[in-house]
Amino acid sequence: MATSDPRFSLPLAWWWVLLLAAAAKLAGADDPYRYFDWTVTYGPINPLGTTQQGILINGQFPGPRIDCVTNDNLIVNVVNNLDEPFLITWNGIKQRKNSWQDGVAGTNCPIPPGANYTYKFQAKDQIGTFTYFPSVALHRAAGGFGALNVYQRPAIPVPYPAPDGDFTLLVGDWYLAGHDQLRQTLDSGAPLPFPDALLVNGMPSDIFVGDQGRTYLFRVSNVGMKTSINFRIQGHSLRLAEVEGTHPVQNVYDSLDVHVGQSVAFLVTLDQPPMDYAVVASTRFNPDSTSALTSIGMLHYSSATSRAPGPLPEGPETADWSMNQARSFRWNLTASAARPNPQGSFHYGTIQTSRTLVFASSPPVVVAGQNRYAVNGISFVVPDTPLKLVDTYNIANVIGWDSVPPRPDGGAPQLGTPVVRLNLHEFVEVVFQNTESEMQSWHLDGYDFWAVGYGNGQWTENERPNYNLVDAQARHTVQVYPNGWSAILVSLDNQGMWNLRSANWDRQYLGQQLYLRVWTPEQSFSNEYSIPTNAILCGKAAEYAH
Ligand SMILES: *[C@@H]1O[C@H](CO)[C@@H](O)[C@H](O)[C@H]1NC(C)=O
Ligand SMILES: *[C@@H]1O[C@H](CO)[C@@H](O)[C@H](O)[C@H]1NC(C)=O
Repeated sequence: MATSDPRFSLPLAWWWVLLLAAAAKLAGADDPYRYFDWTVTYGPINPLGTTQQGILINGQFPGPRIDCVTNDNLIVNVVNNLDEPFLITWNGIKQRKNSWQDGVAGTNCPIPPGANYTYKFQAKDQIGTFTYFPSVALHRAAGGFGALNVYQRPAIPVPYPAPDGDFTLLVGDWYLAGHDQLRQTLDSGAPLPFPDALLVNGMPSDIFVGDQGRTYLFRVSNVGMKTSINFRIQGHSLRLAEVEGTHPVQNVYDSLDVHVGQSVAFLVTLDQPPMDYAVVASTRFNPDSTSALTSIGMLHYSSATSRAPGPLPEGPETADWSMNQARSFRWNLTASAARPNPQGSFHYGTIQTSRTLVFASSPPVVVAGQNRYAVNGISFVVPDTPLKLVDTYNIANVIGWDSVPPRPDGGAPQLGTPVVRLNLHEFVEVVFQNTESEMQSWHLDGYDFWAVGYGNGQWTENERPNYNLVDAQARHTVQVYPNGWSAILVSLDNQGMWNLRSANWDRQYLGQQLYLRVWTPEQSFSNEYSIPTNAILCGKAAEYAH
């Protein structure tokens, strides 16, 4: 590390004190450890009846489910037996003080073929439904994703009676074409084709078995490439119970929209005559009305001998319906989250914002001969050295510091590697402006944020009086409606290098992403852990030792 850097100007003796304190903290001395050994391979799968090449973890598609408890230490050794570099990210796990374990190309070197990397992180202060997935290339289109459920510690009450069981559903659009073929399609400047199917847990549909009179928690995550879904169960209502690690007001819905990268959990009481009921997921915001994809599974009452009569439940039609549903999601102010204090004891609506960032998507543009997506005109190019390593070792000429304008400025689209510099403990307003007719979804690593407003058309400052500054839903991925906007407020309390990206994977792959560096000059291990001893060093960082 460069001793001339003011961030590293503490006397040497202090470094040891802080290092030991951090080591004790990192180890979470009292918290249990869970060890996982994962081997990633190609292997045949046939979710649609024809064999295709999948990405398997320990032979499984989807990958193994992780069940853990808040603050557990997860030690996941990933052996990459593909013929390409590979990396896994933990979607929605906040990686407190620890962007080192985030597993995206801006923080970690991909694991080379034949090599391994051991992730070490804590599911800190979170309860809920999360996922993991491959973050580089288009590997996600071939598998390698799975569920990560974090249960509460015994001392922490959740605002609903313990369900009689829970079901985990990974729902996503699916292609018969392989990830390499889809990558070639995008690299050649063509759009992704319309997906071939909607899969639930790696199958065209799944069956859920329960007893009449009992209540089950359904955890639904959209692990697809780019398509929003709607989820519903014939004859049953869905009581919303958890949204991406926070507790909402438990509204009852006939159906729920789940956009790419998002997760919701809801309670379903088997209060109908004992029969089999259709469990329906269908794609939303389709390019035309005939192209919807549907998965029809089954909720089987254990004593049932026949199918429930009547038509399948219909999905909603309009974007307005979806936007109204989004606005109806409210934070339960009196419920606790992973800590005993109520969620509402943090009055986010009273905090002065320190700045506003307006990030506008731009339609596909040709930059340097390639078809690209951009944010405020800058299309992100993944550098060969992760930005976190570049920053740590002060490597020059990689990062475009603050090179994305804070608002769209109409400049000609160009390639870049923008990192926005923000100060630890800033409170920031971010507006996502969708200028296209396609549904979008935006994810921020390292955080959840309050989704305070959704609207149509062009966002202006005049929208602020309509923000929900009292009980907006906190989440890590927000949808942005076609030709509309979504506004979020985020409290930057987690130091690190964090990916802000389109969760629509074609857009992310073609440059619709950037990084935020949340930082303070008072460098200390109580703000951020130091580089892990097993960190893979690559690119311009390969020559450094740690
Ligand atoms: C690879 O796995 C071994 C244990 O099998 C572990 O000691 C080593 O730290 C791992 N490598 C990395 C880079 O994490
Ligand atoms: C909010 O949480 C409280 C505390 O756990 C719970 O008693 C209440 O039912 C919840 N309210 C709603 C509307 O979901």
